[in-house]
Amino acid sequence: MVEILDELPTGVMLSDDAGEVVYANRAALDYMGLDYEGLKEININAMMRQGAGKKDLMFRTKGDDSITVKFSHIPLSGGSTALILTDISEIHRLQQEILRMDKLASVGELTSGIAHEIRNPLAGIKTTAQALQEELPGNDHRSAYVSRIIVEIDRLNKLLLNFFDFAKPKDIQLKNCDLKKIIEDAVFMVQDTARQGHIRVMEFYPTEEIRIKADPDMIRQVLMNIFINALQAMPSGGQMEVHLENDGANVEISVSDTGKGMPEDIRSRIFDPFFTTKAKGIGLGLSISYRLIKMHSGTITFVSGPKGTTFRITVPKELRK
Ligand SMILES: Nc1ncnc2c1ncn2[C@@H]1O[C@H](COP(=O)(O)OP(=O)(O)O)[C@@H](O)[C@H]1O
Ligand SMILES: [Mg+2]
Repeated sequence: MVEILDELPTGVMLSDDAGEVVYANRAALDYMGLDYEGLKEININAMMRQGAGKKDLMFRTKGDDSITVKFSHIPLSGGSTALILTDISEIHRLQQEILRMDKLASVGELTSGIAHEIRNPLAGIKTTAQALQEELPGNDHRSAYVSRIIVEIDRLNKLLLNFFDFAKPKDIQLKNCDLKKIIEDAVFMVQDTARQGHIRVMEFYPTEEIRIKADPDMIRQVLMNIFINALQAMPSGGQMEVHLENDGANVEISVSDTGKGMPEDIRSRIFDPFFTTKAKGIGLGLSISYRLIKMHSGTITFVSGPKGTTFRITVPKELRK
């Protein structure tokens, strides 16, 4: 009987009337990241009181991954309790992802909507200013004012177009590309900034060439965003490492810094649009990167600790539709 329980993919725990754990199957120990010894430290009654009102409890497994576990609490006769633990990490992750995509879509719509609304009257102002300029005699000194208006309108227009681009990326243009070259290009673009900030950049590439079907501009943009964040996380210098690895049908790019890392409470929000901890930050870099990588059917994840942060991007070599 007990052996059968150990084979279950669901966690089962029993506690006595004092809340002491008297039994836990293998899945339960796994979810809790504990062994039998560690379990003695836990009091189920206290834990249920603490988590009162919460349906799901988060647990950290022995490794670095945190998992989301759903608890069902079944009171048994005599004051003892049975707990059923289900790993709902995947469901939880998907929910978070849907929420994020939803937010991104509405931000994109909103910003491009506003950009459009501003560009229309701007076009009207420009036409009128041009008409005015034509009316003025050639030697009229006020003509310089009107020219100035037109130049400023053009500047504003360009700014809006850029922002538009930024917030709402173009359609994906797949090309057969040499990934190492794209990474080198992106590194090149931040090299000066790194040098000035006393940051050493190290690149690690496999000996064989890695070709993928991807949008090179998008991949470069994602890398730049991650590189810049890495550099900004090391205000007093450090090291950034970029690794490219071949992983069968996928390629993996990782970017590590020796920076300050991220406090636990912001980790779930860094991909949110407009989330930033920087005085002059916009908070769009990672949310856009996230979307661009999703457009490649890839994943972007990170681990962060006091010694720095590593972002990991995985992209299939051939885009799966
Ligand atoms: N390598 C990193 N080290 C520490 N924190 C990071 C790192 N990358 C991203 N972050 C955190 O994620 C937030 C969001 O990043 P991002 O979307 O690029 O916006 P921004 O750079 O404008 O703040 C940053 O403000 C920072 O708090
Ligand atoms: Mg950034």
